Amino acid sequence: MTTTASTTPAGTPEPSAEGLGAGEPLLAVEDLTVRFPTYDGLVQAVTGLSYRLEQGSTLGIVGESGSGKSVSSMAVLGLHDAKRTQMSGSIRLAGKEIVGMSESRLMRIRGKEAAMIFQDPLSALHPFFTVGKQLAEAYLVHNHVSRKVARKRAVEMLDRVGIPQAKNRVDDYPHQFSGGMRQRVMIAMALINDPRLLIADEPTTALDVTVQAQILDLLQELQRDFNSAIVIITHDLGVVAEMADDVLVMYAGRCVEYGPCKEILTHPEMPYTWGLLSSVPDISAAADARLIPIRGNPPSLLNPPTGCPFHPRCDHTDKVPGDLCATQLPELSAASTGGVHIKRCHLANPEEIYFTEILPEIAPDLAEELSGTTGAEEGGTSR
Ligand SMILES: Nc1ncnc2c1ncn2[C@@H]1O[C@H](COP(=O)(O)OP(=O)(O)OP(=O)(O)O)[C@@H](O)[C@H]1O
Ligand code: SF4
Ligand SMILES: [Mg+2]
Repeated sequence: MTTTASTTPAGTPEPSAEGLGAGEPLLAVEDLTVRFPTYDGLVQAVTGLSYRLEQGSTLGIVGESGSGKSVSSMAVLGLHDAKRTQMSGSIRLAGKEIVGMSESRLMRIRGKEAAMIFQDPLSALHPFFTVGKQLAEAYLVHNHVSRKVARKRAVEMLDRVGIPQAKNRVDDYPHQFSGGMRQRVMIAMALINDPRLLIADEPTTALDVTVQAQILDLLQELQRDFNSAIVIITHDLGVVAEMADDVLVMYAGRCVEYGPCKEILTHPEMPYTWGLLSSVPDISAAADARLIPIRGNPPSLLNPPTGCPFHPRCDHTDKVPGDLCATQLPELSAASTGGVHIKRCHLANPEEIYFTEILPEIAPDLAEELSGTTGAEEGGTSR
């Protein structure tokens, strides 16, 4: 599985048999901006977001509440009301431009090319219809088959996602399932038309750890079987470490760090990513590791901070000359690890700060172990 983290446009390659140009990824988001006009002002939910994802690969999108994870992902399915949303940039999915696409064309794409497991399964499933009926309807939208065949497919999918006695449960209503089982029903619904892209928006929030692990295993298994690409949205870098090839860190509607998962987790270069890592128990595995919450509150997207949006909460502004952090938005630039890892920060020596100041705080054993090796790069990958 490989993905290419890049902010460069996909270009205009020759079309291939799968509807993708040569070298064109399954999903290419370029300079996506999403704004919501409200009575209080313009909500700047997503700004200048770019990423790409290949078939069969997984991208983890992380960031705290309100950072634009769901809004940017819903845009991929064209789910924002065009009359109430200002959107610009490009989203190419399976070779087709989604931004500006008509609702009738979007209906043909949703569920088939891309499907979404929504953050809240209870609100995504209709309470008055049985899960079997809802699954069958989702299948009938894209397949000219009888209701009987669609129902059979619904039972097959419930069985596939591990609902015991699927044949008997198919006529149950959503409220008759437990939270974990409802999440499985959502996955069955999302996968019923074998989509090439699956967007899983916090698919394990509010589930206990055992069920959470089962759902993540299930997603990985289904990805192997269907070769789907997955975007997994989560607050939890532990989930990302488990699942993702690439990671996109969002803050205040923007990408602040992006690249291969291994590099982001072992050589993070943006202080907000450090904050996320410091607050994840799985990453700082040493017994004497400290969990350090990020201070302050998420910014208002009605009136985002000037300069670097993280500056009111950042502990490293004194290492940047003058008032650059407060006045100038850092561009996305190559991280010192090279390759396709990029970060948005004015710090000149983030790698040194991470290994000398941050890592010793959150994972002292690991920091000590690394200081005994020939260099941070060598040991950094051993986490
Ligand atoms: N339809 C809308 N109208 C106005 N503002 C909106 C709308 N949808 C989302 N927002 C705002 O856009 C911002 C980003 O929301 P989004 O749902 O993408 O956050 P998120 O990163 O998914 O957060 P969470 O982790 O809590 O799900 C938030 O400030 C949210 O209040
Ligand atoms: S640009 Fe400045 S405020 Fe923003 S993360 Fe870097 S050091 Fe912190
Ligand atoms: Mg969300």
